[in-house]
Amino acid sequence: MKKSYYIGIDLGTSAVKLLLVSADGEIHNTVTKEYPLFFPHQGVEGIGELVSKIDAGDVKGIGCAGQMHGLVALDKDDSVLRPAILWNDGRTQAETDYLNNVIGKDVLSARTANIAFAGFTAPKILWMKNNEPELFEKISKIMLPKDYINYRLTGKFTTDYSDASGMLLLDVKNKCWSEEMLKVCSVSRSQLPELKESYDVTGTLSPSAAKALGLSENVKVVAGAGDNAAAAVGTGTVKDGGCNISLGTSGTIFISSDKFAVDKFNALHSFDHANGKYHLMGCMLSAASCNKWFCDEILRTKDYAAEQADITDDKLGCCSVYFLPYLMGERSPLNDTDARGTFIGMSMDTSRSDMIQAVLEGVAFAIRDSFEIAKELGIEINKSKLCGGGAKSPLWRKIISNVLNIPLEIPEAEEGPGYGGAMLSMVGCGEYKTVNECAQALVKTKEVIMPDKDIASRYEMQYNKFRRIYPSVKELFKTLK
Ligand code: XUL
Repeated sequence: MKKSYYIGIDLGTSAVKLLLVSADGEIHNTVTKEYPLFFPHQGVEGIGELVSKIDAGDVKGIGCAGQMHGLVALDKDDSVLRPAILWNDGRTQAETDYLNNVIGKDVLSARTANIAFAGFTAPKILWMKNNEPELFEKISKIMLPKDYINYRLTGKFTTDYSDASGMLLLDVKNKCWSEEMLKVCSVSRSQLPELKESYDVTGTLSPSAAKALGLSENVKVVAGAGDNAAAAVGTGTVKDGGCNISLGTSGTIFISSDKFAVDKFNALHSFDHANGKYHLMGCMLSAASCNKWFCDEILRTKDYAAEQADITDDKLGCCSVYFLPYLMGERSPLNDTDARGTFIGMSMDTSRSDMIQAVLEGVAFAIRDSFEIAKELGIEINKSKLCGGGAKSPLWRKIISNVLNIPLEIPEAEEGPGYGGAMLSMVGCGEYKTVNECAQALVKTKEVIMPDKDIASRYEMQYNKFRRIYPSVKELFKTLK
């Protein structure tokens, strides 16, 4: 039988990953193109490669999942005004403080459901206004990274609610732009994209895009989603109370919710979900990137598995070295751009693998910080999905399962955001009625990682030590700049 194909685009921080999926959920091809932190021109070439073994006329839809919060600003001729300022960029501390302290956290929370974090888009808009006034004056369109891709594909200036939530310009509860926030940021409605549900078809490929990609002009493009909401779709985290942990460049804990809710501690983000509902999310800025940094830059090796080989079960929860994973500052729950990576507890006995273990555990403990906030809000998480590059490590999976003391389900399709993007386009094209129905039909669990009683109780004691480290050095970080 002739198949229909859907393309999921995962626009990541350092690479674009393309996925070719048929309507029955089977992944037929993947193409990854790495890039320096700029726009992915290689994506075009990548799509040709992605569909090279099928009849390109059978591609029906495209759904893009994008790194969130990035500020893409275009002038009246649609030229990019400056390189996008990304989600992990900490330059906006002054603007973030202004929003939280002068406009006020309560006001921000009432208007948008969130307070300001340095990575969010609104502080970046203010930063441009304060630091690049000539460029700011020229802004004709403001969009998020994946919206730029969609704009280039269809000519339609749109965004979706899940991604727009991270701008601090959206009234998340009522799903509309907050007029008050637009005023605070000196932005007008006409500069902002049209809001859509993630699975809404925003247009078809423009003749020039279709030609460049070698696809039909009938290919439908959906609004897509922020990468975390898309990953949640791709891992089937769409039901009320469902949890997904993503161990990518960033580390996120994503709690799907049918009802709108705000974190009274202002640590977890309250955003719209790609299935039309809501979610709470904690985001740590450096997760798998901590291990990548330590292996690539410090140990100068690419063989991550070999570095982890000596870390046997008896060592888990027994390491006296601790690592604070704040290499880029930290978002959830600390909201501290000055925080930095820190090893503590080394002795002459400390080995190379102890340091690796400390890095893997430090990331797990930092995820637990957001997990604890969710618990304090009364949210019961008794299991979670796990996805992202870091989730490929069996050791890291085990550490996270035991640090959180919950089972972790590993989905068959590991490519969370790209798979979710393709699924959203299937819904847009009518293959499935709803996102939840699509997830129910396509997402399968490959493996479940169960916590071990002894290891989990050792980690419980260690976590209590870990959580005392940051408060002890917090003030010091401010002086290290
Ligand atoms: C989420 C966030 C990151 C990026 C990574 O709030 O900033 O997870 O979306 O691509």
